[in-house]
Amino acid sequence: MVRILGIVGSPRKGGNTEIIVRHALEAARSVGAETEIILLAENRVEPCDGCGVCSKTGKCRIDDDFEHVFNRMTEADGLIFASPSYYESMTPHMKALIDRSGTFNSSAHSRTKFDGKVAGAMSVARRTGLANVWTQQLLFILSQKMIVPGIKSYANAVGSTKGDVLKDPEGMETSWDLGVAVAKLAQKLE
Ligand SMILES: Cc1cc2nc3c(=O)[nH]c(=O)nc-3n(C[C@H](O)[C@H](O)[C@H](O)COP(=O)(O)O)c2cc1C
Repeated sequence: MVRILGIVGSPRKGGNTEIIVRHALEAARSVGAETEIILLAENRVEPCDGCGVCSKTGKCRIDDDFEHVFNRMTEADGLIFASPSYYESMTPHMKALIDRSGTFNSSAHSRTKFDGKVAGAMSVARRTGLANVWTQQLLFILSQKMIVPGIKSYANAVGSTKGDVLKDPEGMETSWDLGVAVAKLAQKLE
């Protein structure tokens, strides 16, 4: 059975990003996948400081929750990255995870950890930055040689206060479709 991991890049627990990720994961389960969720709000992942230690030792020298999150990413067959728009960009929480995991993954010790995984990218905004935020995450996905399920590899929904995305039926529907697409492609590649 394939395992799909959703990573919520919002520091706000129970918010709109978490809602669309849980919806996508429910969709993945509906087609037979196992799912897991990580809230970056509950995990401390500091920014990469470019020290280069990981490329020599295969270990990050920053003592926080990164290794725990990274290990769960490497164990999954499919990854869903999701972030709200913070001044048109992904949150610093998601950016820190992306920088740390990309740098770590490109070290000689762990080059193939993301190769061939299936992935998708999601975003939420009150109004602006939606495409920018999923594009930023999608470019990371492609840089790591992950595989995307075409047009269903990105989704977004609009909302400001917690729960607003539930009033965006098209956003919820495309989130569901992304969950199904990521799970089905992972199953095909299994
Ligand atoms: C620091 C900060 C910056 C934001 N910047 C934008 C923005 O540039 N454009 C926008 O449409 N919404 C912006 N928002 C609104 C959030 O994207 C929106 O409230 C979203 O639903 C939050 O997702 P969450 O509930 O998962 O935390 C911002 C919110 C915060 C806290």
